[in-house]
Parts: sequence; C-alpha cells; structure tokens
Amino acid sequence: MDTGACGCGRTSVEPGVKLAISGKGGVGKSTLAAALAGLMARSGRRVLAVDADPDGNLAAALGVPADVQRSIVPISEQKALVEQRTGAKVKQYGQMFRLNPEVGDLAERCAVVRDGIWLLVLGAIEAGGSGCACPESVLLRALVSDLVLHKDDAVVLDMEAGIEHLGRATARGVDRLIVVVEPGRRSVDSARRVVRMAGQIGLTRLALVANKVGSADDERFIREALPELELLGVVPLAGELAAADRDGRGVLDAAGPQLLCSFQQILAALEGEVSSRDESRLGPRPASSGAAALEGPASSGPAATESATTKRGPP
Ligand SMILES: Nc1ncnc2c1ncn2[C@@H]1O[C@H](COP(=O)(O)OP(=O)(O)O)[C@@H](O)[C@H]1O
Ligand SMILES: [Mg+2]
Repeated sequence: MDTGACGCGRTSVEPGVKLAISGKGGVGKSTLAAALAGLMARSGRRVLAVDADPDGNLAAALGVPADVQRSIVPISEQKALVEQRTGAKVKQYGQMFRLNPEVGDLAERCAVVRDGIWLLVLGAIEAGGSGCACPESVLLRALVSDLVLHKDDAVVLDMEAGIEHLGRATARGVDRLIVVVEPGRRSVDSARRVVRMAGQIGLTRLALVANKVGSADDERFIREALPELELLGVVPLAGELAAADRDGRGVLDAAGPQLLCSFQQILAALEGEVSSRDESRLGPRPASSGAAALEGPASSGPAATESATTKRGPP
C-alpha cells in the first residue's frame, strides 16, 4: 500500500469501527467516505460503505464503473423486498407491518462489491420523509441498526445533512460522527444543525473534518467557527478531485500524495481514538436486532403497530 509522501500510511483501525459522516450537501461527505472506506479496505478488511444520502452518489466516489452504477436499485425502491420483509405494501398507510423486519442478510444480498468494499445504496423515502413510519423507512432504519450494532465489519455511513437514519439505540454503536465542513458559513450552519440533532439522540462522539481548505485563513475560519468540535483533520482543496469527478474515477484512484496523506492522517487519528475506546462509556451494544425499529422513528407517522417477530428466509 502507498504510504503517501508524509509516511503516515499506518491505517490499522480495528475491524469493527463504525463511522457516520454528515454535513451540508457538496462539502465532501462522499469524498471522505470513499477515501476512508478505501483505505480501510486496502488494509485487508471488509468494509460496508452505506450511501444513506438520498441525494448521494457514493458509488461514483468509490470509482464504481458507470454501467454498474446505473444498475444499482436502491433498497428503498426494491418494492418486493420491502413488502416481503415488512409484510406491508409500500406507500400505503394505516396498515399493520413488522417493526423489526429481518435484515441480517441484506448486506450480502444487496451490496455491490468492489475492492473489498461492500456498497449498499439505501435510497430516498418519498412519502412522509425519512422519519416516517412507512415500511421503506422502517426497513432502512432496521438495516442501519443491524450494520452498526451487529456486524463485525467496518462500517462507513455516508449520510445527508442530517442523521435521520440514526435513532438513539443505533447511535450508541457509532464510534464517531464526522461532520464535514468547507470554508463557508452555510456549511458551518449545517454542521451546527447536525450537532444539535446528534445531541438529541445522545450521540456525543463528534469530530470535525475541514475539507476544501485552500489557505491558512480557510482553516482558521473553520477552527474558530466550531471550536467545540475536535478537528480530526484538514483536507486540502485538491484539483485532482474535480478531475476525478469529471473523468469518472474514484477518489483514491485520483488522489495525489498530499491528499492521500490527509486522508491517512484522519484515519490514523480515528485509530488512536477507537483503539482507546472506553467500553464503559459506550456501554454494551444492545442485543436485539430490532433495536432501531423498536426505538421508533424520529418523527411520528401513521400507526404501524405490529411488532411481530416472524422471521422469514430470503425471498
Ligand atoms: N478537498 C476537495 N478539493 C476539491 N474538490 C473537492 C474536495 N472534496 C470534494 N470535492 C468535490 O466537491 C464535490 C462534492 O463532493 P462530494 O463528496 O460529492 O460532496 P457531498 O457528498 O458532501 O455532497 C465533488 O465534485 C468533489 O469532487
Ligand atoms: Mg454525497
């Protein structure tokens, strides 16, 4: 593995690290998610990379070929799967459905695999927003909960400018919520909203990544705007990323030594923190795979009252 010009290529985060990445649209969440997932996968571990941004394209950042990208059907749009797992017709309200659908096999069933990275695309929830209690939303939240709480793999959640898919129970399993910020007030405002939302679900393990930093002034602006957040790393404004986006190449395929080094330093910083993780602070991980569903959606939706534990095999 390329260790980068600065020689900081030590990237042995423990296998099960669970990272969530949030921030305003366009700040570089998918770029960072792809870089961290790629670096962890290069060191030989299985990484579950989850595109949880309805407006996201993590596949492109990972360098998944365009024809494969086009063939991906987001899980929320897999109607037969949603109906089979929840027992409910999608986009119909007032019906009974399972709040703890079987999801343990969905990573294997639905992932697109590339270079040791298992990409799962969650997709958008159309009716009622992602906090609704519609079948699609319940399935996605149960899946995210399962990945975070019950899988041994490293997990990188590429989220939107919010943390809708995380409930209180799932948040307990997230080792770090990384808020990405670029030098600009709008991204700082988004970051503050994310911090508030995280507080509401008891997620306190937050860190900041400053992206698209082109000068010392840029870096100072971000440090001073969000002094309460630990700065995990600074990623320079990098021309090769624009070129990669244009040419359909993945982030790590395009990254030059300086950019690579900044990503490796972020991973190394995470490594230090996660390996010294205090289990008593995190507490034991909940045992039930229905944790996300049982904690309920972020906002109240139509009645969905059944909590049947029926478990079926794959359709
Ligand atoms: N450090 C950087 N330097 C230059 N361009 C960047 C940098 N980080 C991200 N970009 C570019 O910004 C755009 C948005 O990045 P992306 O990761 O898709 O953002 P998000 O997932 O937050 O919406 C992409 O074209 C990407 O190549
Ligand atoms: Mg994105």
